[in-house]
Amino acid sequence: MAIRKTNKLPRVFSGIQPSGSVHLGNYLGAIKGWIERQETKENFFCIVDLHAITNWQDPESLRHQTRSLAAVLFAAGLSPLKSTLFVQSHVSAHSEIAWILNCVTPIGWLERMTQYKDKIANEESVSTGILDYPVLMAGDILLYDTDEVPVGEDQKQHVELTRDIARRFNNIYGESFVIPEVVIPKVGARIMGLNDPLVKMSKSHEHIRGHAIALLEEPKEIERNIMRSVTDSGSEIRFSDEPEKAGVNNLLGIYGVIMKKNRSLVEKDFVDSSGYSGLKRRVAEIVIEELRPIRKAYYELMSDVSELDRLLAKGRDKAEQIASLKMQDVKTRVGFVKPH
Ligand code: AMP
Ligand code: TRP
Repeated sequence: MAIRKTNKLPRVFSGIQPSGSVHLGNYLGAIKGWIERQETKENFFCIVDLHAITNWQDPESLRHQTRSLAAVLFAAGLSPLKSTLFVQSHVSAHSEIAWILNCVTPIGWLERMTQYKDKIANEESVSTGILDYPVLMAGDILLYDTDEVPVGEDQKQHVELTRDIARRFNNIYGESFVIPEVVIPKVGARIMGLNDPLVKMSKSHEHIRGHAIALLEEPKEIERNIMRSVTDSGSEIRFSDEPEKAGVNNLLGIYGVIMKKNRSLVEKDFVDSSGYSGLKRRVAEIVIEELRPIRKAYYELMSDVSELDRLLAKGRDKAEQIASLKMQDVKTRVGFVKPH
């Protein structure tokens, strides 16, 4: 059934790749919001290892990064009682539904995706998985009758594609899928690189010195990176869309999300500030304080991997229950014979 009972909490689904280390952009643009909305929504969060292997991953690193990401999410406040956190490859319905959705998705829809175009522009050889990435993502979302998909700005197009794929399937086979809404945070949707504030802070640039702040970074390192961040030659501390003010804009944005203050309140906090170094010092302070408890909880969780795996198995059981019901419905609609 496409329509779930109306007395239920809105269902939220989001995913994050276990490739590279989680950075401040992921945290402020996605994770923090997920955690804050735990109380008022029914949440499914997925560590998308199937998506991660669209780019080659060292197998041992992938295994470590998957557990490490789970620990980061729990450490950041994701509660196993309030939310369902699981690993994508643990629930085989994700791969299965992707195949069926492939068969209703015109290839032109995928070739138009800007993330795909960016990726192929920089690579000599591109796997089919890179092209098909958004179909797998559509499957993730549609398996759970998802109402809301909170993501950063960069993923908006993929969620819109998910809606198109769902509508097309529903038109052909009848109403199976809920059409999900994309939810983009008003502030923090795009945290920029500290070394180059015109480029989004990204896992793919994290090897560049001073680009990103990793969530588990030591306070000294955080301070150094923020103090060295690129700003302009002026001294005015205000939000602005001018490209040369992008650095200051980014620092104010980071401050605003962490302090939960709107633009005018943020600017007020810096009216008496002594130039950019004062701004940077203050931003470094609050980032360090925000991340300190997360780092501590992370190391505790990582010291007991079997407990971590047990939590992920619980998440898998819950996810699998829902996903397998949807798979049965989809298979019946498509015309597959139910095995005895
Ligand atoms: P990814 O790093 O691509 O796995 O992204 C995980 C989540 O973080 C997605 O919801 C992204 O949209 C979000 N995200 C990634 N980079 C940023 C950024 N620089 N600013 C804000 N959100 C981001
Ligand atoms: N493609 C998303 C990203 O890179 C991750 C993702 C995979 C996702 N499946 C999802 C996000 C489903 C939201 C819903 O950020």
